[in-house]
Amino acid sequence: MLNRWQLARQLETIRSGKMPHHIAIIMDGNGRWAKKRGLPRVAGHRQGMQAIKRCLAGLKGLDVKYLTLYAFSTENWRRPKSEVDFLMNLPGQFIGQELTTIMENNIKLGVIGDVSGLPAHTRKAIAEGIEATRHNTGLRLNFALNYGGREEILQAVRALCRRCQQGDLDPSAITYSDIESCLYTRDIPSPDLVIRTSGEIRISNFLLWQIAYAELYFTDTLWPDFSEMHLYKAIAQFQRRNRRFGGV
Ligand code: FPP
Repeated sequence: MLNRWQLARQLETIRSGKMPHHIAIIMDGNGRWAKKRGLPRVAGHRQGMQAIKRCLAGLKGLDVKYLTLYAFSTENWRRPKSEVDFLMNLPGQFIGQELTTIMENNIKLGVIGDVSGLPAHTRKAIAEGIEATRHNTGLRLNFALNYGGREEILQAVRALCRRCQQGDLDPSAITYSDIESCLYTRDIPSPDLVIRTSGEIRISNFLLWQIAYAELYFTDTLWPDFSEMHLYKAIAQFQRRNRRFGGV
């Protein structure tokens, strides 16, 4: 049972430390959460949406500017069609249910990934959410949908090669920022903290370029069980790390 007093104390502790400006989360373990309860996998995804709401509530008033959630990878199309269909309905459901709260909290929605590969109804829901929140200036909430880190880098390479072919760009003069300007995250700083739930210790093609210097935090907690307290613990751990960015 969540102890409100412990939560408030943990919140006080992290408030006095340096906040990660950008937190990215690999929300893993929905299927196992459901299996443990004898429920269909999609019940885990449904419960996973509640965990997203808890994170947003937990971040209220904290100086975290960006939250990027890995909701559907380019590899997730390999899942059974019924599960993919269910997942493709979640952005619409989430925006439908949460838009009032999102507006009240000044949250700006965004998406990274190949949106053109999503079903029309998913694209429409996302476009409406982005449009409705475009003037908001608070937390930027990005959903990574049909996202793959290698694909993102590959399309950046292609775009830069085209510019070179056109004589617009000299290959030997290509900079990090030229590459970054071709990524889905061109207007977002790199994550400071990446959290992965469910005990798996891997990155799974998430933000490969952007996490070069991110702090990585792995927890055994399954995503549907992830709470404000888990989030605060991850932030507290981040604050204890000594980030040197290759320096001393
Ligand atoms: C990984 O768990 C989870 C996903 C592939 C989907 C995550 C999606 C949500 C939490 C909801 C997204 C909501 C919106 C609003 C877009 P898994 O199914 O691979 O779990 P397992 O490893 O235990 O099988």
